[in-house]
Amino acid sequence: MFRVLVVDDDADLRLSVASALSENNYLVDQAADGEEGVTRVKAGHYDLVLLDVNMPRMTGLQALKEVKAYDPSISVIILTACSNVRDAVEATKEGAYNYLEKPIKAENLVYLVDKALKAKHMVRNISFSAPVFKLPGGTDFIGQSNEMKRIFSVIDKLSRVDTAVLIRGESGTGKELVAQALHFNGPRKDNRFVTINCSAIPETLIESEFFGHEKGAFTGADSRKIGKFQYADGGTLFLDEIGDISAAMQVKLLRALQEKKFTPVGSNREVEVNLRIVAATNRNLEDMIKKNEFREDLFYRLNVLPIQLPPLRDRKNDIEALTHHFIDKFNQQHHKNITNVSPQAMTLLKAHSWPGNIRELENVIEHAFVIESGNEITPESLPETLSLCAELKGSSVAGRIFDEKSDDFDDVDIPLIHAQGQILSAGNAASNGSIYSKEASGFTLDINRLDFQANKEEFERQFLISALKAFKGRINQTALHANIPKKTLLRKLEKYGINARDYV
Ligand SMILES: Nc1ncnc2c1ncn2[C@@H]1O[C@H](COP(=O)(O)OP(=O)(O)OP(=O)(O)O)[C@@H](O)[C@H]1O
Ligand SMILES: [Mg+2]
Repeated sequence: MFRVLVVDDDADLRLSVASALSENNYLVDQAADGEEGVTRVKAGHYDLVLLDVNMPRMTGLQALKEVKAYDPSISVIILTACSNVRDAVEATKEGAYNYLEKPIKAENLVYLVDKALKAKHMVRNISFSAPVFKLPGGTDFIGQSNEMKRIFSVIDKLSRVDTAVLIRGESGTGKELVAQALHFNGPRKDNRFVTINCSAIPETLIESEFFGHEKGAFTGADSRKIGKFQYADGGTLFLDEIGDISAAMQVKLLRALQEKKFTPVGSNREVEVNLRIVAATNRNLEDMIKKNEFREDLFYRLNVLPIQLPPLRDRKNDIEALTHHFIDKFNQQHHKNITNVSPQAMTLLKAHSWPGNIRELENVIEHAFVIESGNEITPESLPETLSLCAELKGSSVAGRIFDEKSDDFDDVDIPLIHAQGQILSAGNAASNGSIYSKEASGFTLDINRLDFQANKEEFERQFLISALKAFKGRINQTALHANIPKKTLLRKLEKYGINARDYV
């Protein structure tokens, strides 16, 4: 079901537009001015927004710009009086889909909304089926966000040269796909792409894995074997998890990279190779260099052209496209026909902070495939941690509870208004005479005790208790999912006398 937001200061008009659309199976919300409209758009997941032009606090044109800056894929239709048609035309230049003149006829309204959403759906399908890079095995490399588009243009340039590339990024951000994209879109694509996972090979075998060995070179070497360096000759050698190789192997690797030749174990003959080297790591190599765990000279040899992959939480615009990509993939694998993601489920997916990045998203969608028997992914088919995190982060509340990027949440807006919009009266905490209660029971505001500081502390206390409960008292998990630096979390727990072990 599509979700539509009607933004107009004329309550009668809002109501009649909303009821015409609801009768045609749209989920409709309302906002009374531009500012409220923009806040709602940022808190919810709307496919289309109907915007009046003249409104108090923020005009329709300003609201349009903010909506488009937040998510360009949201369709906007302008509602305008005859006298404002010029503004409406202006709005179409700013990205509005079209405009409707007041008084609005229900049939025209429904026709235009249908048409706008069909157009949006077509654009989405086209953009989803046109990833920038095709990878072997039919894998598509998805990226709609500006961050990924920038990475794609870097890959495009780097795929044409032979220089070493170091790909960095948190686990699950797609480092391996970047390595493949560099190879399969460059001049070496008809030769081999060979991966060495440096963290998966025992120290005793790693030299032979890299450079090969002669028969009898060591116990168990019953025949001659060529190493990955030689096997990849003419192609690309991908050194995955490069931060995990031992000091001894770092020296040998550096020499092989500098001289483009190496000696197999147990041999006295040097082998020359022509390789492109691509390496990847999620470790902080600069820190490792400081601690003498990684050689600086090897770092500079590998880090000629760095690519830093952003974590998924910093490119939330990719979540929808990736979700549909994984739905297509799992429809084939599980022989199912899931065709849709409910707006509520998409809101949860967008609200999550994805510490495991795209791999975590992939797992969550596969989880939904196992659970879901219908043809739509709903909040019920998503793991519970996602809804808990969204609740904790207040994504169901109009507005944000805390700034995700801030180091602390001391200076945040407290959600004094409950999700449904009404101010709540005295809750458990206040009725027993004390601001603090032992158990978190959902934040409630006592309008007779509007002291900001006390309420803020009560909110923080309840937030922390709920978060600890959700993550079974595990400090690291709680800090990660609630987006609080661990140090801040520990300080706050101490301040409120909360013992994490009580929630294990
Ligand atoms: N942009 C993307 N489009 C489609 N699938 C992606 C994208 N990025 C990652 N994936 C998928 O997510 C999963 C994790 O990606 P990948 O293995 O490349 O991550 P990684 O950064 O190498 O992680 P790690 O550091 O744990 O090895 C893979 O299944 C990959 O196919
Ligand atoms: Mg990897």
